[in-house]
Amino acid sequence: MSETNNNPKPKTTGGLAGVIAGETEICTVGQTGLDLTYRGYDIHDLAANATFEEVAYLLIYGKLPNTLELTRYKKHLKRLRNLPASLKVVLEQIPGSADPMDVMRTGCSALGALEPESRFNIEYHIADRLIACFPAMLLYWYHYQTHGIRIETNTDEESLAGHFLHLLHGESPDEVMRQAIDASLILYAEHEFNASTFVSRVAISTRSDLPSAITAAIGTLKGPLHGGANEAAMLLIQKFQTPDEAEAGLMEMLKKKELVMGFGHRVYRKSDPRSDVIKAWSKRLSTITGETMIYAISERIEAVMWRERKLFPNLDFYSASTFYFCSIPIPMFTPLFVISRTSGWAAHAFEQRHNNKLIRPSADYTGPQPRAFVPLADRI
Ligand code: COA
Repeated sequence: MSETNNNPKPKTTGGLAGVIAGETEICTVGQTGLDLTYRGYDIHDLAANATFEEVAYLLIYGKLPNTLELTRYKKHLKRLRNLPASLKVVLEQIPGSADPMDVMRTGCSALGALEPESRFNIEYHIADRLIACFPAMLLYWYHYQTHGIRIETNTDEESLAGHFLHLLHGESPDEVMRQAIDASLILYAEHEFNASTFVSRVAISTRSDLPSAITAAIGTLKGPLHGGANEAAMLLIQKFQTPDEAEAGLMEMLKKKELVMGFGHRVYRKSDPRSDVIKAWSKRLSTITGETMIYAISERIEAVMWRERKLFPNLDFYSASTFYFCSIPIPMFTPLFVISRTSGWAAHAFEQRHNNKLIRPSADYTGPQPRAFVPLADRI
């Protein structure tokens, strides 16, 4: 048998579906009997009993913080909220018409240049810095471009959820809304080898730095098949005035084989364990705000998708109305996902770095067979 220079190649699967692309201690998705765990803790327990700060600490530092550690961590995050003056200058150059995800991506990249990772004595602190100042990055730009004002980028709010809402609305948030956003940050924080997390691991595997990895991950999250689905879901819900109108519209979309954003999942087949949690928050907020029609329309869309296609809502679908009820502008839905998922991206990047092997898969070649070079003059 003739020897080749290459290892035998396994068959490809579309979109790497079902491929085990590495090991992780951070998250299970449908592997342990529990549907979703962060470092062994069930997502339902975390969403019901923890705060986002505890979950970020768990993901980045590897354990749930005790009381003292949590107090210190919250103070530490609070200290890291402000933006360097030169980053504000960069943000002021980005037009108000820009996609806020482009603001997040550009801001992250700029911060990586102004405060390189090598400046941080403790490796994990660069992740804390990004999480802590992302709300200000987005909302400094937003208020400057929308209202022509340069806002203060810190607040007295203890939680990141409260800080985000306070910067957005200019006042301390309603407590139920703050709790809803806190829960959503927990649900969005981590999800194993999803597209953007995988990208962050690929970037770090080249021995690149964390801001580069997070910048690449933000660009990946932006697409509507991934993080952008929460915005697309809200734009769809808003098109309808009543549940009956929604049902008719959905039937039309399905007939045309259009994708309905916020439904289906690559890994889950029957339900997304995060969906019921965020749905309960959406329902509660719809009652408080009196926006019950939006919720009724959402429920009808869910019923039609299940009846017609056996497709279930993923986390993005009811996150959309939850954010909407908190008066968060739709283009900020995916940036909010960024703020939360940075904890998961960073945890994976550090895990990759500490047991690194360059991620470099192979491809199944489907191009032309080897052929003679054609000189420029002979080409048609
Ligand atoms: N709306 C309509 N049809 C859908 C659908 C949706 N949201 N999700 C999947 N389908 C259809 C597919 O078109 C496909 O139909 P076909 O067999 O006739 O071609 C079939 O269901 C099987 O799809 P699946 O194998 O689940 O696709 P996937 O694993 O490649 O895709 C998603 C997973 C998430 C990309 C896909 O469900 C999707 O595009 N959802 C909408 C975007 C979204 O909500 N993304 C956020 C994910 S958390």
